[in-house]
Amino acid sequence: MKHVFKEGSDKTKPVLLLLHGTGGTEQDLLPLGDIIEPSSSVLSVRGNVSENGMPRYFRRLAEGVFDEEDLIFRTKELNDFLDEAAEKYDFDRNNIVAVGYSNGANIAGSLLFHYQNALKGAILHHPMVPRRGIELPDLTKLPVFISAGENDPICPAQETKDLKELLLAVGAKVQVHWEKNGHQLTQTEAAAAAEWFKENIN
Ligand code: MLT
Repeated sequence: MKHVFKEGSDKTKPVLLLLHGTGGTEQDLLPLGDIIEPSSSVLSVRGNVSENGMPRYFRRLAEGVFDEEDLIFRTKELNDFLDEAAEKYDFDRNNIVAVGYSNGANIAGSLLFHYQNALKGAILHHPMVPRRGIELPDLTKLPVFISAGENDPICPAQETKDLKELLLAVGAKVQVHWEKNGHQLTQTEAAAAAEWFKENIN
């Protein structure tokens, strides 16, 4: 997968897996990585799917309606890529924290829904429930930060509440940060994610 890897000054810190929103690139979230933990290495990956030229991590049939078959295929593709990247760049495969926005948060959520050991933790900015009606792996104590907008037309508030409940039900430690905003990724939620990272990820 197209990506950038930047080695951090502290190799014991988790590698931040940066996952952009629809139409973004692997460059988009590099500043967010710096806010979350400037000494971490970052692996920023571009989605392999193109929707009218806009990169995404998986296909959708309509706004908010996911192509499940493609979602499953692409989630495995990303999980396999993480195995390869850990070997290539010589970092600990079990020490990756995802930082995703929108479509990137959805594929990160899908990694959690399908693979028990894909991530050490996750920061999900404006995610949806990636799939419904499936059994999730045991995610006991896995730290997850979710930020959401009360007036987000793309990720309705109920999606956030459902995602939180589904993750809590399999043992994850979930913190939700609400803003009176829409779908945009704000400075205040980035700052809240950085604070959460300091307290919950070591
Ligand atoms: C998705 O398709 O993943 C969500 O609708 C968010 C987005 O617009 O990317």
